[in-house]
Amino acid sequence: MNAYYDPALKKARLGRLEGRKGFIFYNADIADRAAMGAIFSEYGPVDAIIHLAAQAGVRHSLSHPFDYARSNLTGQMVMLEAARHCEGLKHFVYASSSSVYGGNTKQPFAVGDPVNEPLSLYAATKRAGELMTQSYSHLYGLPATGLRFFTVYGPWGRPDMAYFSFTRDIIEGRPITVFNNGDMKRDFTWIDDCVAGILGALEHPPAVRGKYCIGDAPHRIFNIGNNRAENLTDFIAAIEKALGRTAEKIMAPMAPGDVRETYADIGASCEIFGFNPATGVAEGIPRFVSWYRDFYKVKEAA
Ligand SMILES: NC(=O)c1ccc[n+]([C@@H]2O[C@H](COP(=O)([O-])OP(=O)(O)OC[C@H]3O[C@@H](n4cnc5c(N)ncnc54)[C@H](O)[C@@H]3O)[C@@H](O)[C@H]2O)c1
Repeated sequence: MNAYYDPALKKARLGRLEGRKGFIFYNADIADRAAMGAIFSEYGPVDAIIHLAAQAGVRHSLSHPFDYARSNLTGQMVMLEAARHCEGLKHFVYASSSSVYGGNTKQPFAVGDPVNEPLSLYAATKRAGELMTQSYSHLYGLPATGLRFFTVYGPWGRPDMAYFSFTRDIIEGRPITVFNNGDMKRDFTWIDDCVAGILGALEHPPAVRGKYCIGDAPHRIFNIGNNRAENLTDFIAAIEKALGRTAEKIMAPMAPGDVRETYADIGASCEIFGFNPATGVAEGIPRFVSWYRDFYKVKEAA
């Protein structure tokens, strides 16, 4: 519930979950060992953990590096320690990011590719999270799966992401800034496809020396993308079409920390847990725009 972006949106999401059977919300910091320890001991035994909390965003990591150290390094550490003390835990699933591929030029990005060139501190902390998990999985036999998400978008999404801020700026009559003069490509993952990937992965915990496991640890990593690299300009055109408006564009050079192209090889995810993303940008963007209009009560149609 931190204020990295509008907490009112976070509260509105929470409002949809509260009251559902089996849902309990704690407003706690994952980097706070005592708070997390109390939650785990109160509600054990724990079968599975899906750990998604993080300080996200590439640009913010340039100005607020310690937010990343706290949530993504200490936070990951606390979650791993909690996981290893959960007796009978079947699976620890956690979020990584396509940003770990950094400056790689080989496309599509495959999980076996070297990932030694993070272009931002955000990417470095997500890669560090993978490596920390590898050590815990090796030392304690923790069954773990890391998911490298590729630009996940959709209703209830993140206002700091381009698809969201472009929509808001176009509606409010502000120009949008298009980095690298629009010469960028992104593999966009529709939120429902991402959720299906998380749940699919959850149901397939790795066994020691199982296929795609790293070394001797029951730990593997998968890409969660759409297996399509879309041009940023086509993506903006899809937003303009859904809004019925043309954006005023300010062309700008590449932003520091940004990656020019992302494109996911999802072969292993399809093979192991039947990952099958079905929604392209032409379908997803109008659905997002429709949610946006409804949520923010945008009155006029054009
Ligand atoms: N959305 C994407 O395109 C994308 C791409 C790659 C990776 N990811 C990863 O997926 C996960 C979810 O991302 P998202 O896009 O839903 O972002 P998000 O910011 O909407 O969700 C992360 C949540 O974690 C919370 N959080 C941050 N630090 C915390 C802390 N110390 N203690 C407790 N909660 C904390 C935030 O308040 C936020 O509500 C993150 O791990 C992110 O790094 C997302």
